[in-house]
Amino acid sequence: MSARPQAPDGPRPKTTVLSLAEKKRRGERITMLTAYDFPTARLVDAAGIDAILVGDSLAMVVLGHPNTLSVTMDEMLHHARAVSRGAKGALLIGDLPFRSYQADVADAVRNAGRFVGEAGMDAVKLEGGRAFADTVRAIVRAGIPVQGHIGLLPQSVNVQGGYRVQGRSAESARALLDDALALEDAGCFSIVLESVPARLGAYLTDRLSIPTIGIGAGPGTSGQVLVLHDMVGLFDRPPKFARRYAELGTALGEAVAEFRADVASGAFPGREHGYAMPDGEWQSFLSAAEPEPAPPLRLVR
Ligand code: KIV
Repeated sequence: MSARPQAPDGPRPKTTVLSLAEKKRRGERITMLTAYDFPTARLVDAAGIDAILVGDSLAMVVLGHPNTLSVTMDEMLHHARAVSRGAKGALLIGDLPFRSYQADVADAVRNAGRFVGEAGMDAVKLEGGRAFADTVRAIVRAGIPVQGHIGLLPQSVNVQGGYRVQGRSAESARALLDDALALEDAGCFSIVLESVPARLGAYLTDRLSIPTIGIGAGPGTSGQVLVLHDMVGLFDRPPKFARRYAELGTALGEAVAEFRADVASGAFPGREHGYAMPDGEWQSFLSAAEPEPAPPLRLVR
């Protein structure tokens, strides 16, 4: 069995972008998970996870879309608000969705500001490398920390020709190094590396001074992120790099089937699930509610 981290006792100190930098400096691993609602945000926060990403993966794992391209800024904000009500200790990162930052820098700064001002996020994440360095600079200049994201870019699934591992050739690995250095230079506090060879994940981590967070990037990154629904068995198409830590989908299905059978058989609800009413009150209710008994019939000749 793998060692499980202990949840810290009592309220935890707030994680900041500086705490993450410190962790990398001390050689401590950083943990990040997605959450999209109040109850899961509370659970993830209470378990001591460093950072919570309100990922645009919610389009697929919560809203049932085939990819992440259709989720809107307003939908992201709706979920981000619920997460910030549930998580007080973790660093909260809002994922800028497709169409919220690509068209122009002003849009990007405005939407990043909405995550912070309207939804209580501490930082934002965006997908893309060198091409978005100026966008990152402008958001950071506006006072909002930015996490970069390179490698497999789900919002560019149509350009990348599917969900494919990136950086397997010397040329594309070099391009990812240039992207990573440009994002660091632009002011990113951290970079997500998605689906890149393990040796490249470790190399980029060593070359950068900011922390890298891997997802399908091997064990050599500064930290790891997973989509919560992939790791607890609530999504039916998890990627190869996700490990299952629970089978909540199976447990939920069994619970619902048991409820259905109990209601059908009369086993639920039982007496213990009901509320009592004093006898006197019940009698008064009945005498007020029942119609008056009819007077006896008198025969008239
Ligand atoms: O949207 C998301 O969940 C992500 C993670 C895969 C990093 O971007």
